[in-house]
Amino acid sequence: MARQTPFLASALGALLLGAAALCVDPSAPRPPVAAPPAPTPTPVGRTIDDIMLHDVWGRPHSLAECAGGKVMVVAFLGTDCPLSKLYGPRLDELAREFGPRGVAFVGVNANAQDSLADVAAFVRLHGISFPVYKDIDGSAARRMGAERTPEVFVLDARRVVRYWGRIDDQYGVGVCRPAPARRDLADALTELLADRPVSRPVVASVGCRIGREPTPAAGTADVTYAKQISRLLQRRCVECHRPGQPGPFPLTDYRDAADWSAMMREVVEDGRMPPWFADPEHGRFRNDARLTDDEKRLLFRWIDDGCPEGDPADLPPPPAFSDGWRIPRPDRVVDMADQPFDVPARGDVPYQYYLVDPGFAEDAFVRAAEVRPGDASVVHHALVMIVPPGGAGVAPDSAGAMLDYTPGMAPTVLPDGAALRIPAGSKFLFQMHYTPNGSPRRDQTRLGLVFADPRTVKRVVRGGAVFNTAVAIPAGARDASLAAEYTVPADALLLSLSPHLHLRGKSFRFEAVYANGLREVLLDVPHYDFNWQLRYELAEPRRLPAGTRLVCTAHWDNSAANPANPDPTRDVGWGDRTDDEMLIGFFAYAPAD
Ligand code: HEC
Repeated sequence: MARQTPFLASALGALLLGAAALCVDPSAPRPPVAAPPAPTPTPVGRTIDDIMLHDVWGRPHSLAECAGGKVMVVAFLGTDCPLSKLYGPRLDELAREFGPRGVAFVGVNANAQDSLADVAAFVRLHGISFPVYKDIDGSAARRMGAERTPEVFVLDARRVVRYWGRIDDQYGVGVCRPAPARRDLADALTELLADRPVSRPVVASVGCRIGREPTPAAGTADVTYAKQISRLLQRRCVECHRPGQPGPFPLTDYRDAADWSAMMREVVEDGRMPPWFADPEHGRFRNDARLTDDEKRLLFRWIDDGCPEGDPADLPPPPAFSDGWRIPRPDRVVDMADQPFDVPARGDVPYQYYLVDPGFAEDAFVRAAEVRPGDASVVHHALVMIVPPGGAGVAPDSAGAMLDYTPGMAPTVLPDGAALRIPAGSKFLFQMHYTPNGSPRRDQTRLGLVFADPRTVKRVVRGGAVFNTAVAIPAGARDASLAAEYTVPADALLLSLSPHLHLRGKSFRFEAVYANGLREVLLDVPHYDFNWQLRYELAEPRRLPAGTRLVCTAHWDNSAANPANPDPTRDVGWGDRTDDEMLIGFFAYAPAD
């Protein structure tokens, strides 16, 4: 299976070696991102009578005192919200641009979960020069009608709200562009300063909900944090939402969970968290991350009841996460480079590549492998390719993506008797995709390998790919589709599936068509999301007799309605940049006998 045809090798080479980035070519024309419909009622037109805030030393300040200027921007911020972190520096730029024209900027943190010390650290980290105050009991947010962070209110000299909503359209949930196409806040300020009416007074903000103090109902509750919710979060969320992991804030104690509860409900209802995109109708997967219906009911019930804490005596022991490797002690650790990589605070970072020679004089057989980021908060994904000796390029085998890291993906631990073969003289090529998170970071990613005794290896696990390079998506097409096919040459056991499309990807389906004509859906991803490159591990290896056809069907949305679309006016074909497209279904398998 997965014969090493030059075609396959070049397609994979294109995928694996291309200098792609999540954010796309800044010179490409960009359509504005449509904002979600604005909630009603809006605070626009309302007069904000005086509001009290506190600085980081706990001293009170009134809004009137801050509004020395003609016009005022009140920006609600949160210290851990991913979008708020990205927009802190943007607000500072705007404050420098509009300050001299008589606009005062004030930041307000109304999150119950953010302390005065968190606010002070946020201001320092992002170099914010305008005052940021704490709304200690959330009353300012309630009186103004603030819902999310980041969210801005523009008040005129009479303190009437003239604009409410987002700052611009550069960053959204899962969307990152190199520059904004619409500068909503700046446009509103410019109009106001020119005594013109604000043409778009409300543009909904899309960040995190402001965290409110929990208000549990009186009496005894049967769903409590101590009894059920702590366990649910430990099972489903804490692997990523704890210090040192990719989740932007911890969900490890009662206050974290209670203060983030409104936002937890939103992401679970929307199916954004935990990240998992397979339709439960098809296939069963070992690493299925979804909450069950019962778990969802339990969580929502707890939130509806005001997040009761319960008796701390009922708490489970803290989960046993090792801060070291998740595989058994590695026999060999390979660093990606001599020096760590400096990840900038903002912007788009092109893929970084590092070629490393581990000095294998003989074939190595690997039974467990883990790619471990140095700073998980900025590593979007890391992929390690095997480059065999002789300059033949990347081995397609390695593309089954078994030496990879994406947040929440378990390391590769193969069953007894199975191993991955790394030919003598091979090098490792690290492909690193970094996503800046608002402050400068450093990363040194490492590969840990546990070797198998070659005499015990009965099966060599390999990677393969179903792909079709004849991608041709017309400009503006809402629903373009194409299939790719691969015929299994010898009986095989299928182990895992990894769909791969780029930013216009909309859906992906993996099917097996057996010799008797029977068609089976192995994996269906109805809403593909480029931000999460997931590997779906089959609960039971699936036997594929020789002659079985693996069929992958992809759909793309190249219209302006796709917020991730970098350019709906362009016809799109196969290419290695994220603003080109691909159609690849990676899989891992072992020979059946
Ligand atoms: C696989 C790792 C992973 C798991 C598991 C996970 N999260 Fe997240 N979560 C993340 C990452 C990474 C982000 C930041 C996304 C970003 O930067 O936009 C995030 C963001 C969030 C946010 C902020 C809102 C947003 O969209 O950015 C909330 C709320 C959240 N997660 C709740 C949860 C809850 C509740 C669970 C469990 C039911 C959970 N997460 C499980 C990785 C995870």
